[in-house]
Amino acid sequence: MRLSTGVGACSAAIAMFLTGQAFAQSMAGKSLYERLGGQPAIVAVVDDFVGNVAKDKRINGFFAKADIPNLKTRLVEQICAGTGGPCAYRGRDMKTTHAGMGVRSRYFNALVQDLQKTLKKFKVPRKEQGELLAILGPMKKDIVTR
Ligand code: HEM
Repeated sequence: MRLSTGVGACSAAIAMFLTGQAFAQSMAGKSLYERLGGQPAIVAVVDDFVGNVAKDKRINGFFAKADIPNLKTRLVEQICAGTGGPCAYRGRDMKTTHAGMGVRSRYFNALVQDLQKTLKKFKVPRKEQGELLAILGPMKKDIVTR
């Protein structure tokens, strides 16, 4: 009885390992866009992220007059295009968009924290989180002006 339970648990562990291996292999060589889960996942991430920003007293004042549906559409396009997805970004460039807003480094970091909160909630693996943040990070120099 004990032995068979042990064998059962062991083969379940092997099966899980193999499933993990198969999953890791199926993801290898895929674009970040695909590994994130494609368009539906990006739409869901942007929705939740913008929701976090709207609740974030450190920065939500900046968005008081923002066109939120447009912002979400542009962010989805930007992330889709930037991660290798089949999209074109149709918004304004980051420098023109954020010119004169007076965004400080700490506000930029707050916004990144709001995104990280979403990525954690959606259980995006650390590797993919890092890759996405590495795409957005270099935009800081065009967004932070104070
Ligand atoms: C990596 C960081 C960021 C990215 C990728 C980003 C991206 C964008 C995009 C794509 C737009 C829309 C552009 C368009 O309509 O053509 C936008 C607008 C805007 N962003 Fe950012 N942004 C970032 C950081 C920030 C930060 C830190 C703030 C302020 C704390 C901010 C405040 C705004 C505001 C207020 C708008 C204008 C919304 C409107 O007037 O409708 N952004 N941003």
